[in-house]
Formats: sequence, C-alpha cells, structure tokens
Amino acid sequence: MVEWNHPHLLGLQPLTPTELRVLLTRAREYQHDLAEPPQPEKQVLSGRVVANLFFEDSTRTRMSFSLAAQRLGARVVDLTSTDSSVNKGETIRDTACNVAAMGVDAMVIRHRSSGAAALVAKAVGGAWGVSVVNAGDGRHEHPTQGLLDAYTIAESFGRLDGFDLGGLTMAIVGDVVSSRVARSDIAAMTALGARVICVGPPALAPSSLTVLGCEVCHDLDSIIEQVDAVNVLRIQFERHGAGKGPASSGGAAAPGTAGARGGVHSSGSESAPVASVREYAELYGLSARRAERMKPDAIILHPGPINRGVEMTATVADSQKSVVLRQVGHGVAVRMGVLDLCLRAGR
Ligand code: NCD
Repeated sequence: MVEWNHPHLLGLQPLTPTELRVLLTRAREYQHDLAEPPQPEKQVLSGRVVANLFFEDSTRTRMSFSLAAQRLGARVVDLTSTDSSVNKGETIRDTACNVAAMGVDAMVIRHRSSGAAALVAKAVGGAWGVSVVNAGDGRHEHPTQGLLDAYTIAESFGRLDGFDLGGLTMAIVGDVVSSRVARSDIAAMTALGARVICVGPPALAPSSLTVLGCEVCHDLDSIIEQVDAVNVLRIQFERHGAGKGPASSGGAAAPGTAGARGGVHSSGSESAPVASVREYAELYGLSARRAERMKPDAIILHPGPINRGVEMTATVADSQKSVVLRQVGHGVAVRMGVLDLCLRAGR
C-alpha cells in the first residue's frame, strides 16, 4: 500500500518520517530504472501535462523536473519570468489559474516569495485538481532539494535500505537564514535521525534557528572534524534587501562585482550581513586545509550554483569528497518519485 495521500508537495517540515521514506523509496526505484532506457510500462504519467512556472533563475531544478516528467511520459510546458505576463502586472494567482484553465495536471513552481507555492496550491488544487510542487519559494522551502540531499547522504553511508540517518552529523554552512535549501534539509535530516549543525556568522546563522530542531555554531573549525556531511551554501545576496547586496563601497558584494573583487571591509553598507566576501571566505569558506581535517569518509554537498573561491575553493569543489554531481543525478529520480506520487494522490 502506498502511504502517500498528498496531491501537493509544498515543504518537508509537515511530513512524517514515514512519508519522507515513502518519497525516498520511490526515488530509489526510479534511480535504479534510470540506468536503463525508458520502458513503456514505466510511463505512468503518459497523457498528462506538467507546467513549469519559474519566476526565479534556475539551471538544475527546472531541467531536472522536465527530465523527470518526460521520463514518466508526461508532456512539459515551460513559463519563465522573462516571458510571462507577471511582468505586465498579473498576479501569480491569476497566472496559475490561467495555466490551470488550459488543462494541466501539475504545476512546478519557483518564486521569490515565501508561501507562493501554497498560495498557488490553494488556487488551483481544489476545483481544478492540479497538483503543485514547490521548486523553491523565497527563503521558505525547497523540498525536492532536501530530498535529494537526504538521498545522497543515505547513498554515501549505505543507508538506502530504510533511509535511517541515525548516528550521522550534518553541518549546513553559510547563509542559512536566507536558504530554503537549509530549511528543507533540516526538516528531512532531523526527521530521518541525523544531527544537524548550522554554521555561519551570527547574521547568517542566528541562534533562533534552533527552533527548527538543529544546533547552531559560529566556528566552523571547531566542528569540522566531527561531521559526516557538510552542505555548503551560496551567500544569497539577492535576498539581503536594498543596501545589503552588491556594494560599490567595497562591502559585502555578489561575486563578480567590484565589491566582491575588492573584498575589503565595509565602509558604506554597515547593515550588510557579511562584512566582506574575503573575510567570509577565510572564516567560513571550505578550503583544502579545512577539507583535509574532515573524517576520511565525510562528504561535501552543495545545492549549486557554486561561487568558487567564496563558499568553497575550486580544489574542494572538484575533490574526491565532493558529491555535488551525484546530488544533481539523484535530483531526476527524486522528482520522478514526487511527480508520480503527487499526481496519483491528486487523481
Ligand atoms: C538553490 C536555490 O535556488 O534555492 N539552488 C538549487 O535549486 N539547486 C540554492 C541557491 O540558489 O543558492
């Protein structure tokens, strides 16, 4: 019996450990199938339509959802922020209802506002019967990323049978407060039995995060030898608000900007959560020296996109410990499982 009866996947926080294991177990079956050419009997979404509604940039997530849906036999239509009428003032709710009226079966949505996926699910779930999958809503959740991270850790430590992560410690390093990936990871890993430590400067890893069931630490060097997995996060400059992003003053700046290259202490944007990118990289970046201090079988994850030289060095990103591309590979199987189960429940 399938123990899954949700037409939508909006986040991992409300799910029970059993429900998480149902999703991960289905992903494991699809991961196994991915080694073979697509089989007609596995096209469980044949004749169905999945709409990707991406109002924020994406490389991995959008393509991975498309490949997952196509692999299951569904047709995929894409709407992105650059070509949608949201630019003409249409609300996200109206956009979603219009797409629903065209007769789609599922919507995969990414939006900068926390709660956007839930809003769309409310609008198109009931009467239209459309399944909604959250592909990242603001700082809230990115459930399929949390699942693929859990899958990758389980695979690396021989826990695919039962997905019990008991005894393992995961560190989530960097801009935890702005990260939807971190919220989904904390929910998944703690529910599956792992210990989770969030690490970063107080502005990016505040002690209030402990309400999510994790620990908080501001000193990466003090925990690096204890952890089995490190998930390294990009600094989400785009979510820091006006005056806190790319800074011509030489303060915190997005990589590739004058501020980032300068990497000097802030002189004009005191409210920036990171005083300087160079200082951040020294204190919280995963360098080869730090990676060498990790346990021999410990792994390094990153949701992408990586800013090489900021949150981790290029050497570390390409090292044996890095499982970044394995994560990406698992993303397709995880999304096949999620689309299959949610669309079945929504029928
Ligand atoms: C993340 C996202 O968009 O939340 N990336 C992803 O989906 N793989 C993380 C990020 O943008 O830093």
